[in-house]
Amino acid sequence: MVDLGSGAGLEVLRAAQAVGPYGQAVGVDMTAEMVVLARRNAAALGVANARFVVAELESLPLPEGFADVVLSNCVVNLVPDKAQAFREAHRVLRPGGRLVVSDVVADRPLSPELREDPRAWSACVAGAVSLREYFRLLAEAGFQAAEVLEESRADCGDPWRVSLRSVTLRARKPLG
Ligand SMILES: C[S@@+](CC[C@H](N)C(=O)[O-])C[C@H]1O[C@@H](n2cnc3c(N)ncnc32)[C@H](O)[C@@H]1O
Repeated sequence: MVDLGSGAGLEVLRAAQAVGPYGQAVGVDMTAEMVVLARRNAAALGVANARFVVAELESLPLPEGFADVVLSNCVVNLVPDKAQAFREAHRVLRPGGRLVVSDVVADRPLSPELREDPRAWSACVAGAVSLREYFRLLAEAGFQAAEVLEESRADCGDPWRVSLRSVTLRARKPLG
């Protein structure tokens, strides 16, 4: 299992339990401080089958077909080149593997000013794209059977008054 943008590593540590001692959970994050924290959390909990690497989602240091499952929670909105991040997720998945992504999506196009606002980026607002764009990017990267598993209104406490939703999506890398 690979977690894209693993932060403090909590999903990776839970997944490491789920995959069992012969499986492996790998967290990828571009922020070295978060990777240090995640490694510390894994050590504190005695989790031996979790690994954390510093890298950008757009260039994953993992081989083709490495993972059964790729996860990501509240990260893709922060990635400037989402198309490349999804291509990389597709590359590291084995055929038939699945991608499960939770993220913030925008119900309406965001203004150019908002898209340039660093505060709105760090609040996970400025980089949000529409659900339709999400589906387009997934299909373009080669994913199939994309579907929404859950959705709810996202409350980012946002002073920009944009309409956002929190969505969990699943898509598959085709077998053939
Ligand atoms: C909002 S946090 C979410 C962390 C974790 N997934 C969670 O749910 O707790 C976003 C994380 O994504 C990482 N991140 C953002 N853009 C990234 C990129 N292009 N490549 C790798 N990591 C990225 C950040 O360093 C940060 O740790």
